[in-house]
Amino acid sequence: AEPLKIALAGLGTVGTGVVRLIETNAELIARRARRPIRITVVSARDRGKDRGVDLSGYAWDDDPAGMATRPDVDVVVELVGGSDGPALTLARNTIAAGKSFVTANKAMIAHHGLELAAAAEQAGVALKFEAAVAGGIPVIKGLSEGAAANEIERIYGILNGTCNYILSTMEDTGRDFADVLAEAQRLGYAEADPTFDVEGVDAAHKLSILAAIAFGGQLRFDAVETTGISRVLAADIAQARALGYVIRLIGMAEADFSQGTPRLFQRVRPHLVPFDHPLAHVDGATNAVVAEGNFMGRLLFQGAGAGDGPTASAVVADIIDIARGEKGVGFSMPAAELRAMEPATTGHRIGR
Ligand code: HSE
Repeated sequence: AEPLKIALAGLGTVGTGVVRLIETNAELIARRARRPIRITVVSARDRGKDRGVDLSGYAWDDDPAGMATRPDVDVVVELVGGSDGPALTLARNTIAAGKSFVTANKAMIAHHGLELAAAAEQAGVALKFEAAVAGGIPVIKGLSEGAAANEIERIYGILNGTCNYILSTMEDTGRDFADVLAEAQRLGYAEADPTFDVEGVDAAHKLSILAAIAFGGQLRFDAVETTGISRVLAADIAQARALGYVIRLIGMAEADFSQGTPRLFQRVRPHLVPFDHPLAHVDGATNAVVAEGNFMGRLLFQGAGAGDGPTASAVVADIIDIARGEKGVGFSMPAAELRAMEPATTGHRIGR
């Protein structure tokens, strides 16, 4: 079969991970995708930088926005980041060119996901963003396919690897916040601007995407109440521990469909988690998502939430779906059918 030709925009941690994964597992990927997957062109800010991967077999394009219309490109993979700017231009150009688009960009999906989904549906192309939420955990596929028959009323979890790494390492070692943050940046977990990680914004991006999928509702990043971990002290963690708790940054969303307009509660905040709760044992850059459905009961998804290998795995899984001919858009239903939801400041099930 003809290879599926990929343009890759962005060669940071995740981008170089995608190059390595597609090269290393080429044969098994071709078998499962039922056709070879080939990177044809790449683009990044600094051409000269040594990234530890061999890029000599690919064309180089200095203008990522222009990659969409190249004849040697079937699918564009965007790993540039940023809610607007070049990433958004590339997304719009790709869909307008009638090509499928894969991204790990949670900020862009949180801000523009509905617009892009509607455009992709109109154009009959795929828009996929599994890697945007919880890195290597296939939580979008798990919810939109595996939980498709359930009414989900509540979803919550640990959605930022950097914060979880910082909190669990502070707990284990008694080290300072700033010191551990620097280490998380070195390990490639943190965003280019780590403020988004430590202030809870990255987790809020992911929570709003998950909530839209879980509840079949319109994405409302603007309505997530967000508090980060930058003011959590080693002493807070030690004191919580003495009382039988750990501190974790938890994103939680609930929907209430019981009367009139559905209501949506979304909140990201450091929480005390008791030792006997499964989320208390999620350490390091791991993420975990709990979804509660009316027939399936409680599901726990857990795995690496950040880093090159896990995030690249989610990106390439999306590419494989497209190679198999899937035209889906990452939400659980067509953008126009997602329900409008009224933001609420309390959950209706919490405390019951
Ligand atoms: N900075 C993010 C995190 C990367 O730490 O979870 C994955 O989205």
